[in-house]
Amino acid sequence: MRLTTERLDLRELTRDDLPALRAILQDEETMLAYEGAFDDEMVDNWLDRMLERYETPGHGFMAVVLRETDEMIGQCGLTMQHILNEDVLEVGYLFNRAHWHRGYALEAATACRDFAFDELGADRVWAQIRDTNLSSMNVAIRLGMTVRGRFVKHYRGVDMPHLAFAIDRAHWALPAFASH
Ligand SMILES: CC(C)(COP(=O)(O)OP(=O)(O)OC[C@H]1O[C@@H](n2cnc3c(N)ncnc32)[C@H](O)[C@@H]1OP(=O)(O)O)[C@@H](O)C(=O)NCCC(=O)NCCS
Repeated sequence: MRLTTERLDLRELTRDDLPALRAILQDEETMLAYEGAFDDEMVDNWLDRMLERYETPGHGFMAVVLRETDEMIGQCGLTMQHILNEDVLEVGYLFNRAHWHRGYALEAATACRDFAFDELGADRVWAQIRDTNLSSMNVAIRLGMTVRGRFVKHYRGVDMPHLAFAIDRAHWALPAFASH
C-alpha cells in the first residue's frame, strides 16, 4: 500500500525506519497521550505489530515521508480498533515534534480517510482520542469528524478517558464537504 499527497509519500514502514520511529515514540512530549515515552522493546513491538498488520488485514500505520527532503517525519494509517463496543476502522497519526503545526498530519490523515472510503469501502472512519489531546482532536475535526461518545481506556496501568470521533461516508460524500 502506498499513498501520495501534495507534499507527502505514505509507504509501509521497514526496519530501516527504526531510528525515525524511535525519535517519535521515545519523545516524552509526543507521547503524552500514551502515558510517556516508549522504551526500546516497546518500539520494537510497535514496529513488529505494524509489519504483521500489512499481512493481515493488509493495512496499518505507514511511514510519512516529506518528499522535499526524503525524511520520515511521522506515521499515519488505518488500523482495526475496538471502540464503543464495536470493531471499527481507525485513522491514527503520530508525528515528529519538529514537524508539527504545518498541516502534515491533516494532509496524511485526509489521504488515509479517503482511502478508507474509496478503496476499503468503509461506511465510517473513527479516531479515538484521549480527552487531554487537543491537537489530535483538531485534526479529527478538520477531517470532518464529530464526537460520537466517550469511554475509558485502560493502558499502561492508567485509566484514560477518551472521546470517540467519526465521519460517516454520507457526510464525506456531500458536495458541500468536498475536501476530496
Ligand atoms: C496529533 C498531531 C499529529 C497533530 O499534529 P499537528 O501538527 O498539530 O497537526 P497538523 O499537521 O494538522 O497541523 C495543524 C496546524 O498546522 C497549521 N498549518 C500550517 N500550514 C498548514 C497547511 N498547509 N495546511 C493545514 N494546516 C496548516 C494549522 O493552522 C494548524 O495550526 P494549529 O496547530 O495552531 O491549530 C501531533 O500533535 C502529534 O504527533 N501528537 C503526538 C502523537 C499523538 O498524540 N497522536 C494522536 C493520538 S490520538
